[in-house]
Amino acid sequence: MNELEDFLKIHNAGTILDIACGSGGFTNRLTEALKSYTSVIGLDIKADARDDFLESVKGHNISFVASTIHDYLTSASHFDTISVSNALHHLEGVAEVIKKVSGILNDRGTLIINEMHCDDLTPPQQTQHDQHKLIADLHRATGEYHRETWSRSEILGFVYGAGLKVQYTFENKNEDAEITKEPTKMIERARSAVEKTYPDGAPDTVTKELERLAIRGEEIGSSAPPQLTLVCVEA
Ligand SMILES: C[S@@+](CC[C@H](N)C(=O)[O-])C[C@H]1O[C@@H](n2cnc3c(N)ncnc32)[C@H](O)[C@@H]1O
Repeated sequence: MNELEDFLKIHNAGTILDIACGSGGFTNRLTEALKSYTSVIGLDIKADARDDFLESVKGHNISFVASTIHDYLTSASHFDTISVSNALHHLEGVAEVIKKVSGILNDRGTLIINEMHCDDLTPPQQTQHDQHKLIADLHRATGEYHRETWSRSEILGFVYGAGLKVQYTFENKNEDAEITKEPTKMIERARSAVEKTYPDGAPDTVTKELERLAIRGEEIGSSAPPQLTLVCVEA
């Protein structure tokens, strides 16, 4: 198997929980490729993701829950397939969260983790990584949990720490992804996060980092990060 879709097309997913679903980009990837499923719950801390999620995800028995995963886990029912995409670096205490998530998998259930990571970056990916890190640092300064991306071994550590094993691994290094030298959405987001976090003027270190990254973006460019996808089952 070369990519996640190769697994999805032979997987009968049953009941699905997609944690931190946002507007449903990854959920759609599941519903479009899966062999079968019975229902999908998308869960996100942001209630305002609901409309976009319900509009964009194509499929049957789709619903949305507005909650933090931490609160949801206190009374969650069990699922056959649970997914979490590009959100491990948004979840405080993620090792503990993944342990609890593995506890709400049905027997022979599957956890699918899809996460961008920080290993072996090309120079444009390093730009994207550093811009994302600045945004994450600014979010933490305003009380929102967000951190820089994990390494592959850290992501694997969460899986093994939860008593799971990896059945399939898919790597998308994204080495050939388009390189943008125009100001990207990411640098614009960084700029507005600086203004929001420091309305009366940012510390020098922050202003300098923002400028360094804007210049690096123009000179070296920025491109999409590598992604690691793990299909995990009970060990
Ligand atoms: C980068 S987006 C990923 C969206 C989607 N999974 C995808 O791959 O397209 C991260 C999402 O995590 C959500 N999030 C952050 N902290 C959360 C939490 N504690 N519980 C649930 N969702 C959370 C954010 O609202 C955001 O929609």
